[in-house]
Amino acid sequence: MLISTILFTAACAAVFLTRKKIGLFWSGAAFFVVTILFLKHGIDPPAPAALVTLYAGTTFLAMLLYVTSSKQAMADVWMPIKSVMVNTDQKWALYALLVAIPGVIAFETYMGNLPSTDAPPRVRSVHPPPPNTVDVKTPGMAEAHEFNVIKDDSPIRALAETDPVAFAAHVARGKVVYYQNCFYCHGDTLAADGHYALSVNPLPANFQDPGVLPQLTEAFLHWRVTKGGPGMPDAGGPWDSSMPAWEKFLSEEDMWNVIAFLYDYTGFKPRAAESAEGH
Ligand code: HEC
Repeated sequence: MLISTILFTAACAAVFLTRKKIGLFWSGAAFFVVTILFLKHGIDPPAPAALVTLYAGTTFLAMLLYVTSSKQAMADVWMPIKSVMVNTDQKWALYALLVAIPGVIAFETYMGNLPSTDAPPRVRSVHPPPPNTVDVKTPGMAEAHEFNVIKDDSPIRALAETDPVAFAAHVARGKVVYYQNCFYCHGDTLAADGHYALSVNPLPANFQDPGVLPQLTEAFLHWRVTKGGPGMPDAGGPWDSSMPAWEKFLSEEDMWNVIAFLYDYTGFKPRAAESAEGH
């Protein structure tokens, strides 16, 4: 960042010092190119593309203002353009431009349409805000029922206090569900190191990471388990994760069981619904 700023300043100074020699058109063009290069490659972490476009636009407008502020400057800028268009001995430049301009546009369009294997940008939100309600439809259910992600909670959580034996049975069932369905990705010890883990991008959630289970309500997890990667809002993009939508395969109770198992195994406590609501 420091090096690129020094380079940028030096390049601007060079453009400024040679502006008389190379003329206003070329010094303006050089300044613009240097600015774009700095915005695109000189800032760490990289500025979002929309911001670069905004700054580039602002720079261009400022240059336009400067050029149109005096007749002399306008004439200086127009001169090289005019001479290419009317001077017969510069016809080659005109033909070169005729090929180069559509060529650049074609190249950019082609490159822009190539499928990308880049990792999702860092802005991918791992825990995007959930929808308020989710329609859950599991196999065997005649009709979807509405689940309120903000107000509703795990129907079995209360048993942990009132009937620990029954709760333990739910957790035991959740363990079976986990090792039948989830450990391929989320791992034997829930640490995101299942045998498929490294082949998916983004990586599976690591339930041993204190930044995951304790920060989330069971209702939030229920939404993530029912709808999976395909149910993520756009903020979770740019593509769906491989996390399956488990409502297609599991009963609603088993989804709650496996969630209870995740907490039981790791020893974390779910985030309380009230505190999730009040921030
Ligand atoms: C094919 C691999 C795969 C399988 C199998 C799988 N998951 Fe996932 N899971 C993922 C990936 C990848 C993510 C991270 C991306 C995301 O959040 O969508 C994830 C995320 C999650 C999350 C979200 C955690 C968070 O931080 O928001 C939960 C909860 C979850 N999985 C539970 C389960 C449960 C329960 C099962 C089994 C019933 C399961 N997963 C099976 C791949 C998988």
